[in-house]
Amino acid sequence: DLAQIGVSGLAVMGRNLARNLARNGFSVALHNRTSARTKSLVAEHGDEGTFVPTETLEEFVAALERPRRVVIMVKAGAPTDAVIDELVPLLDEGDIVIDCGNAHYADTRRREADLRERGLHFVGAGVSGGEEGALLGPSIMPGGSKESYATLGPMFEKIAAHVDGTPCCVHVGPDGAGHFVKMVHNGIEYADMQLIAEAYDLLRDGLGASAADLSRIFAEWNTGDLASFLIEITAEVLGHTDAATGQAFVDVVLDQAEQKGTGRWTVQTALDLGVPVTGIAEATFARALSAHPEQRDAAREALPGPARGSVPVSDRDAFVDDVRKALYASKVVAYAQGYDQMAAASAEYGWDIDLGAMATIWRGGCIIRARFLDRIKDAYAEERPASLLVAPYFRDAVAEGQEAWRRIVAHAAKAGIPTPGFSSALAYYDALRADRLPAALIQGLRDFFGAHTYKRVDREGTFHTLWGGDRAEVEA
Ligand code: 6PG
Repeated sequence: DLAQIGVSGLAVMGRNLARNLARNGFSVALHNRTSARTKSLVAEHGDEGTFVPTETLEEFVAALERPRRVVIMVKAGAPTDAVIDELVPLLDEGDIVIDCGNAHYADTRRREADLRERGLHFVGAGVSGGEEGALLGPSIMPGGSKESYATLGPMFEKIAAHVDGTPCCVHVGPDGAGHFVKMVHNGIEYADMQLIAEAYDLLRDGLGASAADLSRIFAEWNTGDLASFLIEITAEVLGHTDAATGQAFVDVVLDQAEQKGTGRWTVQTALDLGVPVTGIAEATFARALSAHPEQRDAAREALPGPARGSVPVSDRDAFVDDVRKALYASKVVAYAQGYDQMAAASAEYGWDIDLGAMATIWRGGCIIRARFLDRIKDAYAEERPASLLVAPYFRDAVAEGQEAWRRIVAHAAKAGIPTPGFSSALAYYDALRADRLPAALIQGLRDFFGAHTYKRVDREGTFHTLWGGDRAEVEA
């Protein structure tokens, strides 16, 4: 019998996706560059469903029913192109190649156009949820043609996580839309983690709380508006004791954050689209700053400032609650910005992304799964808000928390505790709601030094002032 779907690339994610498919009753052809992985999968998990192990790509392709559904799960970039190049000559018209890796959406657009020309479908599918998600139900964000989704969608919807009976998988839009949305998901993941880290830092050093105390605080927060996977595992990580030293685990981990690139791509893309994703950008730069130990060593010696924790906190419970509110408000800003970025890309590329549906499929399976995504889904249920921040629920939530937010940002500044995420989110909020922005002065300066022209508030047209002459205004 021919297999219903194939998976090539059986490292952890590919292996678990293949098992998830098999456990859901689909027959799965397996392929890996080195067959040892294929064999061990069948040896260890062969009883979970129907696997068809193959050794060569030719054998793999021949083992699949048509139109073939071929999932590739290899490293993004050149390794993905290499597999596609080998695979394509073996396929027939109408077959579907599905890239479930963290590919750059521009690569996905290129590959989709290329394969379409050869009569094949190429689906760039974002898959979130890590190893466990891949096995037990990830959030899946497939792009590509509607036609390919018709044959692929039902399978993906079955293996995806489900929330209230709704699968965390939907056709995002054509070509690179799925990978774009997954990229923004990861950018938001960066922002979420940075904000959590700032809350931790404020409470740890600002309040002098222990890691164990903080584990309890985060567990408590996880029962309210902030309830989410990342808050839940923050409580776990902070509650963990290092076996070797008996110290809090968080204290023995080197404080230099790494990154594989999706956060950076989100920021780079946002710059091109002209969308201010300051929360994601600050989170990405905070990781970069942490990873420059020589500079930090020099600065630690040379730069004066308040000692951490030197600003007393009079009411500890109130402070903890303020931090919680500041975290929530900043998180809303980060999501609002990420949603703006998806909206901008959707318009730019004609993807017609249903933004509410993105919140629906992020409610389960993925790393940023959170209770408040239901609220985002609701915010987009009717007319699209100009910003998530002006949608009634979020407007009220942030308004309610803003005094706390301001107190925390002010406290952080006085106490020398860096809060780039909290602070820039508040600055964004204030800039967005400002009557007038100092951008007017910037326009004046640009006109002064470069005759870059400006528009006026009281008249149509484009103007230039003769700064070097009699300062008369001329129409440009
Ligand atoms: C997910 C994760 C996953 C991966 C991140 C880690 O959605 O399952 O986002 O894709 O763990 O890409 O990214 P960094 O290594 O850049 O932190």
